[in-house]
Amino acid sequence: MRSHLLNHLTAEDYRRSVTEGVARVAATLASVEQPFSGVGVDRLAPVVDAVDLDRPLGDTAAALDELSEVYLRDAVYFHHPRYLAHLNCPVVIPAVVGEAVLSAVNSSLDTWDQSAGGTLIERRLIDWTAGRIGLGPAADGVFTSGGTQSNLQALLLAREEAKVRPEDFSRLRVFASECSHFSVQKSAKLLGLGADAVVAVPVDREKRMQTVALAAALERCVAEGSVPMAVVATAGTTDFGSIDPLPGIAALCEQYAAWMHVDAAYGCGLLASPTRRSLLDGIERADSVTVDYHKSFFQPVSSSAVLVRDRATLRHATYHAEYLNPRRTVRERIPNQVDKSLQTTRRFDALKLWMTLRVMGADGVGELFDEVCELAAEGWRLLAADPRYDVVVEPRLSTLVFRYVPAHVTSPEDIDRANLHARKALFASGEAVVAGTEVGSRQYLKFTLLNPETTAADIAAVLDLIAGHAEQYLGESLERAS
Ligand SMILES: Cc1ncc(COP(=O)(O)O)c(C=O)c1O
Repeated sequence: MRSHLLNHLTAEDYRRSVTEGVARVAATLASVEQPFSGVGVDRLAPVVDAVDLDRPLGDTAAALDELSEVYLRDAVYFHHPRYLAHLNCPVVIPAVVGEAVLSAVNSSLDTWDQSAGGTLIERRLIDWTAGRIGLGPAADGVFTSGGTQSNLQALLLAREEAKVRPEDFSRLRVFASECSHFSVQKSAKLLGLGADAVVAVPVDREKRMQTVALAAALERCVAEGSVPMAVVATAGTTDFGSIDPLPGIAALCEQYAAWMHVDAAYGCGLLASPTRRSLLDGIERADSVTVDYHKSFFQPVSSSAVLVRDRATLRHATYHAEYLNPRRTVRERIPNQVDKSLQTTRRFDALKLWMTLRVMGADGVGELFDEVCELAAEGWRLLAADPRYDVVVEPRLSTLVFRYVPAHVTSPEDIDRANLHARKALFASGEAVVAGTEVGSRQYLKFTLLNPETTAADIAAVLDLIAGHAEQYLGESLERAS
């Protein structure tokens, strides 16, 4: 049987197979007319289930033909201008080249002896990012699998730095705005904190954490004999893109000796923005920062990092194993990234960002993010002027939260149902994909704009589609009621 292992003997086969795969994807991307086919689970699951995994096809071309049926034909395409749903970006080509290289070479970034230059590249990018944040000379960090893991690691360090004995973990409190990401709660649970460890701090009309409320909550915490372990400021909330007031939060963290973590999973794109960097002012005072390059740096999943002001704090993630990173490697100054990471075997995701910066430069990436922020501002003007819609806040970044409100009087529940229906019907048609969320226990719709190819005309067209579906639903429900 022909060898499928990639090595010096199979280089030609590798070139042919990968070229074949790339050709299929390129042809698919060029021909995709809408972001989604609209296929339902009921129709697609039997196609996937019918594949006999114990009978290999033995041939790349045949496997790619099959892949068209089970995946490519019905995938959700983020590069399409009418994919407006979640925090997923179309990816830049240099990063995709990086992805192809890293999986072929297959470096693992846990130790120097499995990666060599890969480790140095990752370290340069950590330093580059920390420099853009302004974390100072002792900063460090590590690439992670995503914002969830970055937040978890940051809070692990914060818990350890709080210097509280495990039997007192239930006294630890983490403050985060009511619009913060759910991974903060998940992290608290994983870290063994109490059920009420995460204190939800109210937000203002712009969906930014209220510092006055934070100050009051911190004071209460101390008065009750609890310990303010950390404040998580969000720089780019998932729904609204709102940025918490970082300087005010930093001052309170200093006052209460609480760890300041900035979750900039979404807003990190501002670090490269030629015009909007000032929105992150105050981030340089953080103890730790989450950045998701796979959100606003147009990188393929996964590409994320956690950065810290003081590299010594990363020791809380350090374990030495004789087989991998024995203690002596520290004395020998061997750079083993596993000493800083929650993971062991770890992808060389950094290569994608490296290729991106080397081909496009930071400004090139930042300008793409600027474009989507400008598009969101245009979308907001459209929505604010459209009597069919109620829009929540003027965007700071690139999301829009809004809902269809019919001209005729109907109940709030009907409006909720009409919006839910519109989102579902749109997804089933595949013509556009939008997200949804809840605001004040009412159902809203959400556009997350991360595709610079999307135009105001696309936004207007999708708003018409939504209105059409919502009206149709309300019309039919009136008929049902009569
Ligand atoms: C503000 C914020 N933090 C963290 C995360 C989690 O990131 P990931 O999905 O990469 O784990 C998200 C995801 O949307 C987010 O919006």
